[in-house]
Amino acid sequence: MLGQESLRVLQQALEKLDAGFAKLPEFESSAPGLERFAEVLAATAERLQDNYPYFHPLYAGQMLKPPHPVARAAYALAMWINPNNHALDGGRATSAMEKEAVAEIAGMFGWTNFLGHLCGGGTMANLEALWVAGQIHPGKRILASEQAHYTHGRISGVLQLPFESVPTDTSGRMDIEALSKRLERGDVGTVVATMGTTATGSMDPLPEILALHEKHGFRIHADAAYGGYFVLAENLERDATRALEQIGKADSIVIDPHKHGLQPYGCGCVLFRDPSVGRLYKHDSPYTYFSSAELHLGEISLECSRPGASAAALWATQKLLPLMKGGEFAHGLENGRKAALALFEKLKADSRFVTAFAPELDILVFAPRGYSVSETSAMSRKVFDAGARRDLHLAVAELPLHFWQKDLGEMKRDCDTITCLRSVLMKPEHLEWTGRVWDLLSDATSEVLSPRPAARK
Ligand SMILES: Cc1ncc(COP(=O)(O)O)c(C=O)c1O
Repeated sequence: MLGQESLRVLQQALEKLDAGFAKLPEFESSAPGLERFAEVLAATAERLQDNYPYFHPLYAGQMLKPPHPVARAAYALAMWINPNNHALDGGRATSAMEKEAVAEIAGMFGWTNFLGHLCGGGTMANLEALWVAGQIHPGKRILASEQAHYTHGRISGVLQLPFESVPTDTSGRMDIEALSKRLERGDVGTVVATMGTTATGSMDPLPEILALHEKHGFRIHADAAYGGYFVLAENLERDATRALEQIGKADSIVIDPHKHGLQPYGCGCVLFRDPSVGRLYKHDSPYTYFSSAELHLGEISLECSRPGASAAALWATQKLLPLMKGGEFAHGLENGRKAALALFEKLKADSRFVTAFAPELDILVFAPRGYSVSETSAMSRKVFDAGARRDLHLAVAELPLHFWQKDLGEMKRDCDTITCLRSVLMKPEHLEWTGRVWDLLSDATSEVLSPRPAARK
């Protein structure tokens, strides 16, 4: 069930790896005896059972996608070496693999001459992008939409850069009129365009942001941590396609292989269009950069030690599933989007639900229709629980009322936000499971709605 057959392939690869070091003298490992090892590992497995089944298509809640079996195996294989991609001294092969894999990611955005590397995740990658932005426009303001990931406000605090949120429109995208007005004040250094918001997968209007950039000259950082890989998908609506087509015009891009790139956690990626920003990273390390005059990744990244295993996993995955339009990887993304659209159509056609807007990617938000906003919010939580009792795992989100205006009808507006259900249909398998997900959701909703008293006035 959990892909154990890949363990046999891993065993063969380990033998191959071992052969590369066969000439070294034997030595006694200090690992504990096998019996104790097995006991502890069994205890670990037992502890790990206390999790939602993230790997299963009935887990349709948060942004959690299982790593590809080849990523899992390559990561484990690299663990026998445990390379450190800070310096070539610590991870020669995996540093080269990182450079190759990152060049393939940059290639998706049309970049060949760029600066970039892997890092711990989206937060770390955005930190680097804003750290560079802050050095280029010292003291100037960072703007991001109200639906941008909370990390931007917090990172700006860490970097001591002034930060401000820009309101969103009814589709969860940055409101371009509000941005335009705000820019008139002339103190903005960087605009963060979120290419796929965390809550709803909405795409900020990058073409319009680029047009404003012509006039005001700010820096553009594209937070494509979630949505970046969708440049390969060919079944998006026009606005999202237009926005993603322009992403290569941003000054920096963040994309997370550990979200949609089928990688284990600990794999983010930051890219800069102008490689000369590498000068801003300049530092002396008297201990590490000895073995080669070639670029050590630590010379262009904020983090010091980093897992070379992440690079091995990413490299192997991209060898198996190249990052190209029309390929198997792209079809996986397209399937998630089809699943989200199919479920959206069912929800829209069923008067028991309210929907906000059609998904731009593969993230869907909806709520059971109550008599008031507060009742709707309470029912969302109940459907979440009723779904979980049926092994259907959704997520809950708190979203502004203006996203829902078109569909609320007579509902009493007694709150400014709605607690709704959120489903991230990011596994390729979700498409085949849409019917099952709908049946369970419908059943869970009926359970919540059934003992309701007649509608109150
Ligand atoms: C758009 C966006 N940016 C940044 C982040 C933060 O990424 P991480 O959780 O990898 O630090 C997320 C996480 O969901 C995200 O969706």
